[in-house]
Amino acid sequence: MITIIGAGKVGGDAALFSALRKLDDEILLVDIAKGLPQGEAMDINHVLAELGVDVDVRGTNDYADMAGSDIVVIVAGAGRKPGMTRMDLLKINAGIMAGIAGEIKKHTPDAILMPVTNPLDPIVHIVHKETGFERSRIAGMGGMLDLSRFREFIHRAVGHSRDSIRGLVIGEHGVNMLPLVRYSSVSGIPLTSLLDGPKLDEIIESTKKVAAKVIELKGATVHAPGNAISSLVESVVRDKKQLVPVSTPLDGEYGYSGIALGVPAVIGRRGVEKIIELDLNDAERTAMDTAAKNVQDAISTI
Ligand code: LAC
Repeated sequence: MITIIGAGKVGGDAALFSALRKLDDEILLVDIAKGLPQGEAMDINHVLAELGVDVDVRGTNDYADMAGSDIVVIVAGAGRKPGMTRMDLLKINAGIMAGIAGEIKKHTPDAILMPVTNPLDPIVHIVHKETGFERSRIAGMGGMLDLSRFREFIHRAVGHSRDSIRGLVIGEHGVNMLPLVRYSSVSGIPLTSLLDGPKLDEIIESTKKVAAKVIELKGATVHAPGNAISSLVESVVRDKKQLVPVSTPLDGEYGYSGIALGVPAVIGRRGVEKIIELDLNDAERTAMDTAAKNVQDAISTI
């Protein structure tokens, strides 16, 4: 069973996308708001009934119903308002995470965890510490979302099919994210041979800022995170061994320990099966160090 803690817009979309992908027979939405997860589940089940998809989506206010979950997605917490950074949510969202972690330890001690709540990297660290789960079972969804935006800007710049575009975005799921131009390509053709420096810089900056723009325009980001969550869930449930960026606790990788940060990893049935250490140039290493320090500073305030 797939459990999604947080039945707001992103959690609901993650449940819908996961059901449409038929990732499990049962998807559970958990929320403290009376009626919200139940209503969301009913609304989604009406979509599935029309499509003839036999995935059962349930909603509950009782964490005990999570028992037996293979995967637990954590999207509960406050979302950004226009003008806020993800880090602005640290105090309020860190505050609820200990309680959620306690419920996870109690009811789903063997699950793979996918934090999404912002600020993602400090939240991944908190979930790791509060649950005591081995770090390979904690894959925070953030870099995959950033990558979807990076790919869209590349698609718009080069004009080729979105399907031919590959890349990586690592570091912080925040202002210090690091879109890796050197590790991005269009059908294997290095991006750096297709676009000039100023255009690449423009794409990097746009990737960093576009979520805030969406929030300014429509109040929240919903479909892109909901879809990216279900894509990460799919890599686990179908043991796809996708090599994607996830935020996970580091223990020496890239020279960092005691923090969680977005890194390329192989995601399969066992969760974070392998962290890939890329050869970073000086500029990339400096950007990664900046991200790591920002996350470390945030963690030290908790
Ligand atoms: C975003 C939120 C999920 O990037 O951080 O849309």
